[in-house]
Parts: sequence; structure tokens; C-alpha cells
Amino acid sequence: MMGYRKFDLFIWVLSVLCLGWLCSGFNPADNYLIDCGSPANTSVGDRVYVADNLASKFLSTPKDVVANISLKSITSFDDSPLYQTARIFTESSKYTFSISQSGRHWIRLYFYPFVFGGYDLSKAKFSVSTQNHVLLGDFSVQNASLVKEFSVNITSDSLVITFTPSNNSFAFLNAIEVVSVPDQLITDDANNGLHGLTTHTQALETSWRVNMGGPTVSFEKDTLWRTWVPDHSFQVNANLAKYVSNIEAVTYDADSALATKDIAPQTVYGTLTEMKSADEPNSNFNVSWEFTVDPGFQYLVRFHFCDVVSKSLNQLYFNVYLDSLIVVRDLDLSTLATNKLAVPYYMDYVTTSAAVSNKLRISIGPSPLNNAYPNAILNGLEIMKLNNSAGSLSGANSLVPSSNSSSKSNVGVIVGAGVGSFIAVVLAAILFVLYRRRKRLADQGHSKTWLPFTINGTNSHTTGSKYSYGTTASAASNYSYRFPFGVVQEATNNFDESWVIGIGGFGKVYKGVLNDGTKVAVKRGNPRSQQGLAEFRTEIEMLSQLRHRHLVSLIGYCDDDSEMILVYEYMENGTLKSHLHGSGHPSLSWKQRLEVCIGAARGLHYLHTGCAKAIIHRDVKSANILLTENLMAKVADFGLSKRGPEIDQSHVSTAVRGSLGYLDPEYFRRKKLTEKSDVYSFGVVLFEVLCARPVLDPSITKEMNLDEWAMEWQKKGQLEQIIDSTLAGKIRPDSLRKFGETAEKCLADNGVDRPSMGDVLWNLECALQLQEAEIPGDAEGNSTNTIGEQSPLVNNFQ
Ligand SMILES: *[C@@H]1O[C@H](CO)[C@@H](O)[C@H](O)[C@H]1NC(C)=O
Ligand SMILES: *[C@@H]1O[C@H](CO)[C@@H](O)[C@H](O)[C@H]1NC(C)=O
Ligand SMILES: *[C@@H]1O[C@H](CO)[C@@H](O)[C@H](O)[C@H]1NC(C)=O
Ligand SMILES: *[C@@H]1O[C@H](CO)[C@@H](O)[C@H](O)[C@H]1NC(C)=O
Ligand SMILES: *[C@@H]1O[C@H](CO)[C@@H](O)[C@H](O)[C@H]1NC(C)=O
Ligand SMILES: *[C@@H]1O[C@H](CO)[C@@H](O)[C@H](O)[C@H]1NC(C)=O
Ligand SMILES: *[C@@H]1O[C@H](CO)[C@@H](O)[C@H](O)[C@H]1NC(C)=O
Repeated sequence: MMGYRKFDLFIWVLSVLCLGWLCSGFNPADNYLIDCGSPANTSVGDRVYVADNLASKFLSTPKDVVANISLKSITSFDDSPLYQTARIFTESSKYTFSISQSGRHWIRLYFYPFVFGGYDLSKAKFSVSTQNHVLLGDFSVQNASLVKEFSVNITSDSLVITFTPSNNSFAFLNAIEVVSVPDQLITDDANNGLHGLTTHTQALETSWRVNMGGPTVSFEKDTLWRTWVPDHSFQVNANLAKYVSNIEAVTYDADSALATKDIAPQTVYGTLTEMKSADEPNSNFNVSWEFTVDPGFQYLVRFHFCDVVSKSLNQLYFNVYLDSLIVVRDLDLSTLATNKLAVPYYMDYVTTSAAVSNKLRISIGPSPLNNAYPNAILNGLEIMKLNNSAGSLSGANSLVPSSNSSSKSNVGVIVGAGVGSFIAVVLAAILFVLYRRRKRLADQGHSKTWLPFTINGTNSHTTGSKYSYGTTASAASNYSYRFPFGVVQEATNNFDESWVIGIGGFGKVYKGVLNDGTKVAVKRGNPRSQQGLAEFRTEIEMLSQLRHRHLVSLIGYCDDDSEMILVYEYMENGTLKSHLHGSGHPSLSWKQRLEVCIGAARGLHYLHTGCAKAIIHRDVKSANILLTENLMAKVADFGLSKRGPEIDQSHVSTAVRGSLGYLDPEYFRRKKLTEKSDVYSFGVVLFEVLCARPVLDPSITKEMNLDEWAMEWQKKGQLEQIIDSTLAGKIRPDSLRKFGETAEKCLADNGVDRPSMGDVLWNLECALQLQEAEIPGDAEGNSTNTIGEQSPLVNNFQ
């Protein structure tokens, strides 16, 4: 036992060391990481942010408040632990760090505006400056967490960072880091087009840092703890662009003029965005991206290239543009990169004058020189703001504006959890405790089995775009647990075709087993389908916020290398549809069917009412109701879901989506979506459950779908004529009547005439009671009291 433990520990130490070498090739001389307001050290990846009391020697403040977030306000499971506490400064306060080695340093400031006591941190307004530069002026943070990253060349032996509240306001800070940067990162090298500008004295602020053609690269995979976000949300015309990934091909060259791992990691150089129709000889168009910037400032733009697409040298020539200016003409990477392919190369460019608009456009396009097929590539991009002539980085409004997707998803989270269920909060707390505990275990070197709550075996709370710069371009990484691709591969026996349990529009669904024995269902999207990507994100966002007994839970996802993989709890008994018609499952009793309908109704009722803003499922059908081992129903597939109407609006207007046969005709006609569209589809499901027929059944009649057909029988009062033959003689008439009426109301022409899911639920429970009610002197199954027996019609439609 002892020997095993020691060996275990040895391996662990070894792997930590290896990780250290791989991930942190650079060892910073100065490395201050502080979790402001925190009573304890906080680990984020392999970095430790020290407790505030240990850091008090750095701080001088006449008056401040230590604040912590209340459990109530934790909006998602993966709010970084750094965001749980803060320091509030009501008067000008200073952090002073002694600098052991002069040169560039990162200053990263972490902000998350929560409410503490009388302080609403989103109301804070303040400036932040160093001895030589203003970093932020009249700054405030709304709605979302934000990391501000600066790099300054410090030549004195100390760095003083001052927080000054604006008039009648206050300042706050959740965490701060001051970390040395290698001298080679920003230089004045002649091969970089800086127009004679010396960068020595420049303070830089990272505005955007983008990984073209690939997923988010989290700070843990970057030797300098930078986060790279994906490029799709910046693309001007995404249908002209194509993604390529070939990470293994990347070969860093020893030539120091070329890029090193510190310039950008292999995962950034190994993926790229190129022209889509590169194989058409006459293609002539640009691929462009647009970034929001602050007018009035110059920008240092760093382009990262690595030709992992060419088959031979001197095949690819292209032009690079910034707004309407040409930055390089006929760029030939193979020549620049010492006559080799797949060698990382970067290029700096400083805009010649201050930006006049708030958009900066980067384009790549084919060179007319090109005698091979026209193409152009870009692997990565960094846009850094330069201080103005007054030494300031602050404009009128220095807040890097969030992209739309960011503000939307964050509002979503807040709404989702605000009223949201108590369960979600408790779960968040449990996960947080688990996380802390697991972290401790890992720190002791004992934890190597992979748990569903972890990422890469280290931690799960810190990857992804929480650490990005005002954007959450990858909503995916925001809310759920991220699985390494290898783990998913292993769990599904490398996507074994014989493990496929379903195929849908999104892709295939595989059965899987995690190495702790947990069974999962793994849905793997067809990569690079734009449609799929949107649904992938919606599903992650929705399911991460929603926890309910009758909703299928998402365990995690994987977006490595443009994969779109969702990992769910495994539902032993498959879809409701498979129990009704087709594939060999034993048929369900009437009571079981009622219970399934009730469970699904509860799930939908929760969707419609459990959050401040209703969620409309939009694709309610028997194939999206799954059954556990004990035949408990759970609603699945949130890919099409939409937030419901605002209080002051009565509908969400949106393109018609959903499944044929279940579509609400009113929604179809008026393109107006309300919760009542789900109620309609659920009504169709009720008839499907009763009749056990597909909704589009050519054998019924040529002109009618199940809903119309069943409604005809219901209106004639002869519903018993069309029930599933296996139920014949087993449904009590009262129960059937209640059930039929409920389904009929759901199918009302006008949404306003349909019941709410809550009413539907109540009526179904009623139908169940009527079925189970003991009628004195009348044993169940007695044919005088049941219906549908020997119905002539049943046979006609077999
Ligand atoms: C916190 O981290 C600091 C610096 O790494 C270390 O000196 C201190 O012992 C740690 N404290 C605890 C309670 O772990
Ligand atoms: C949070 O702050 C309150 C009030 O200052 C304090 O009583 C409580 O102990 C703090 N909790 C944590 C976890 O620091
Ligand atoms: C803040 O107060 C100073 C001095 O009282 C005043 O000069 C300045 O205009 C005020 N600034 C704002 C934005 O109100
Ligand atoms: C920092 O500034 C000093 C003095 O201007 C200069 O000598 C040094 O090269 C600069 N370092 C970097 C990394 O720019
Ligand atoms: C590409 O963009 C540049 C700069 O905006 C423009 O001059 C050029 O004409 C564009 N090329 C094509 C093929 O559209
Ligand atoms: C940035 O500030 C420094 C002073 O620290 C100044 O020398 C430099 O010219 C400023 N940069 C620009 C682009 O004005
Ligand atoms: C913050 O949220 C409020 C209301 O939810 C919204 O009006 C405002 O525009 C948001 N601000 C930002 C910067 O997203």
C-alpha cells in the first residue's frame, strides 16, 4: 500500500513537473497573484492567488471594505473562484509591488460586479493608473465579468497601481496579477513594421486576442497565461471562410526572429481560417473580420501565420489588409520562414494614425501574382491599444464594448439564476464544494481518476472566456464542464458505430461509459455546420442554467478542434417514440403512459415558468421525451429553444423551426412564437401516446396529420375507436374522456384558447386519478367499464 502511494505521488510530481515545463516554459521573475478580499488562497489551474490578508503588505488604503458574493448571486457553476470576493475602495488606494527585474509586465485586473451590503459594484466608477500611465479612466463594469489586461515596461524598482474613485463613487477589484513578460514578446525588431515607433515606453492594453479557425485556447494552455477566443463572431462574411486544423504539423524554428511558443501556443498556430473556395481557380474575394476599438487611439496589430495547408513551398501568396490599407503584398510564408512549411511566423503592424471609427477591419485575400490556386490564411490575431500622447489608455469611454452575444448570454445567466430554481443554487454550491474538495485532493496528489466535474484532471472552473476581453465569443466555454476530446473518445470506444443509439439532424448519438463507470449519451455534431454550432451553444447555455428532475441534464461538452460534442446523462429506456411505434420496446401500460406524459408536462411547465423569462422549447415531440430505467420522463434537446417574450411583448418573432407533424399552425401562419406553441406540440404528443401512431402516418389518410385526424374522432366523441390496440379494454372511460379533452384543448386553433402547461399537468394528473380510482364492486379490467375493445377501426388501420 505504502509503496503504491509513494509511486503514485512520484508519478504525480513527475507529471506536474512535465506540465510545468510544457505549459510554463517561461518562469517569471516577478509573479504577484492576489485574490482580493479572499480569506484563503485560491487555486486557478496551476496558479495560486494568495489570500488577501497575506497580500495586505502591498496595499495602502485609508478606507476599504472586504466584500464577498452571497451564494444567492452565484450565477453559474463556473463563476471563477476569483469572482467570489472583492475589495471595495471608497477612497484613493494604492497597491505597491517591488519589481525584481525591469522590463515588461502583465497587469491583469479582474472585475465581477456583484452586490454586497449597500454596494452595487456595477455602480462603481473609478480610474486606475500606474506611475506613468492611466490604464482605466472613469471606468465601470456592467453585467458581466471582465478581465482587463495591460502590458507595461517597468524600469523602476517598484510598480504603484492607484485606484481612484470618481466623484461620489467607489472602486472595486476582485483579483490582480503583476507578472513578468519575456523581453522578446514585444520588441522593436526591424522585421516588424512599426514605422520607427519604439515600443519601450508604450503601455499596451489587449483589446482582442483571437485564435482563427479554432476553439478558445484557455490560459492554461498558454505559456504566458493568455486566453485566445475563436474568430467566428468577428467574421464579416462567414460563408466565405473555411476552418482548417492541423496542430501536429506546427514546427517551431530555432531562428529567434521567428515565433516561439511564448509568442503564441501551438494550438493557435495549428488552426487557421482560409478562403472557402480555394479550389476554384478564379476566386477573388477577401476574408474579413471586424473588431470594435476605441476611436482616438493607435493600435498595434500582431498577425500570426503558419502555413499548415500548402503541400509544397512557394505555393501560397496572399495580401493582408488593415481597413483599406495594404499591410503586406504577396506574402510568401515559406520564404520568410526559412524555406520550410508549417513554421510559425508573426508580424507586427502599428496603425499610422489614431482610429477614427470604432471598427477596425482586417482582411486577407489572394495575390494577383499567384499562379497556383488563390488562397489566403490567418492563424491568429492580437489587437493592442497604445497609450495616447498623454500616456493614457483611457478614452472617453474606455470600456471595451462587449459583443452582442456576450451581453445576451450574460443577461441570460442572470435571468436564469435570478428567480431560477433553488435547486440550481444548491447544485452550484455542491459543485463548488466538490470543486474545492477535489482541488485539495489533487493538491495532495491522490486524485487521478477522472470525474465528470473536472477538466483535464485539474479544475473546471477556470477555462474559457471568463478570462477573455469583454467578449464571450465562445458561449460554449462559459457554462458547463469541458471534456478533453480523448476522454470522450475513450468513453465511446472511439465513436464505435455499433454504439450509436440515435441519429438526429445534429449528428449521431453514442452510448458511452466514463472511466468511473457512469453511463452517458454522447451527441457528436457534424463539425463546422453553422446551424449546428448555434444549436450547440444554445443547448449548452440552456441546459447549464436549467436543472430539473424532468429535464435531461447535460454533464459536459467538448469543443476541442472544432468538435461539437455534448455529453448527457444516459437514459436507459430511450425515447418515448420508440415505445409507441417501431423499434421493439415493450408497449407501455396506460398508467405508465399517463405518468410519462405527466413527467414531460412537468419539465415543460418548469421551462415555461421556472425562470424570470419563459423558455420555449420549440421542438416538443415524442422523440425528444426520454425515459430513464424506471420510465421517468425527461425532456431533451434544447437546440432550438428560445427565451420567451418580454413582459411588455406578447410574442417572440422568429423563423419557423420545429418538426413536421408537431408544428403549431398559428405559429406557422403568424411566425409568432409563444409558450402556447409548445402546448400545441404537446397536444400532438398526447394523441400519439394514445394512438401509438406516427404523427405523419400515410396509412391514416393522405391529407391529414395525426392531430387533425385524432381531433375528428375526438369531436365525434368516438376517441375510443382510435386508441392503441394494446390498450383496448384497459382505459377507464373517465380517464380517457379527461385525457381526450386535455389533448383537444392543447390543439385549439388560437394560442390564447389553449391551456397553460400548468393546466395541462393538472388535467393529466386528474386523468391518472380517474384511472386509478377504486370503484366499489368493480374490478379494474372489467370489460363493462372499459372501452375500445374489439374496435373495428383499430384493425382497419393496422
Ligand atoms: C498561500 O500561498 C502563499 C504563497 O504561495 C503561501 O506562502 C502560504 O503558505 C499559503 N497559505 C495557505 C494557507 O495555503
Ligand atoms: C462574507 O462577509 C460577511 C460580512 O462581512 C462575513 O460575515 C462572512 O464571514 C464572509 N464570508 C466569507 C466566506 O468570507
Ligand atoms: C469631480 O469633482 C471635481 C472637483 O470637485 C470637479 O472639478 C469635476 O468636474 C467633477 N467631475 C465630474 C465628472 O463630475
Ligand atoms: C524597457 O525600457 C527600457 C528603457 O527605456 C529599455 O531599455 C528596455 O529595452 C525596455 N524593455 C522592453 C522589453 O521594451
Ligand atoms: C480586399 O480588401 C482590400 C482593402 O479593403 C480592397 O482594396 C480589395 O479590393 C479587396 N479585394 C477584393 C477581391 O475584394
Ligand atoms: C505613450 O506614453 C509614453 C510616455 O510613457 C510616450 O513617450 C509615448 O509617446 C506615448 N505613445 C504615444 C503613441 O503617444
Ligand atoms: C446591462 O443590463 C441591462 C439590463 O439587463 C441592459 O439594459 C444594459 O444594456 C446592459 N449593459 C451592458 C453593457 O451590456
